[in-house]
Amino acid sequence: MKWRIVCCMALAAAIWTPAAYADGGDLFRQKCGSCHQKGGQAPPVNPADKAAVVWEKFFDRNRHTVDLSAALNEAELKSVVEYLQKFAADSDRPETAAIPK
Ligand code: HEC
Repeated sequence: MKWRIVCCMALAAAIWTPAAYADGGDLFRQKCGSCHQKGGQAPPVNPADKAAVVWEKFFDRNRHTVDLSAALNEAELKSVVEYLQKFAADSDRPETAAIPK
């Protein structure tokens, strides 16, 4: 019977995993969206604006012109970057309208 419990736990883990990305998506819409929005101080951005590797380099190399440390901590930024990569231009499901244009 033990294998059934193991099975259930594996299934639960598989179901829960996408929540990590949903968190990244929420953070993205809230934190990045506070500046990046229609009529905001910066134009709307979306995961599908760049390929996954470009997102990684953009934040690894600190290319964001505005200091983000006040808006997000390192863990939050990491989770946003994971979300951006998951729905990047070259992903299975490019996300073009997380922040409406
Ligand atoms: C405090 C306001 C603010 C926050 C928060 C913010 N940005 Fe920006 N961002 C800007 C400004 C201002 C620019 C420069 C816009 C320009 O040059 O026209 C910019 C530029 C960018 C660019 C470059 C534009 C391009 O098309 O290459 C990207 C990409 C970007 N931001 C993504 C993000 C992401 C992702 C987040 C969240 C992790 C974020 N920004 C959070 C203000 C912000």
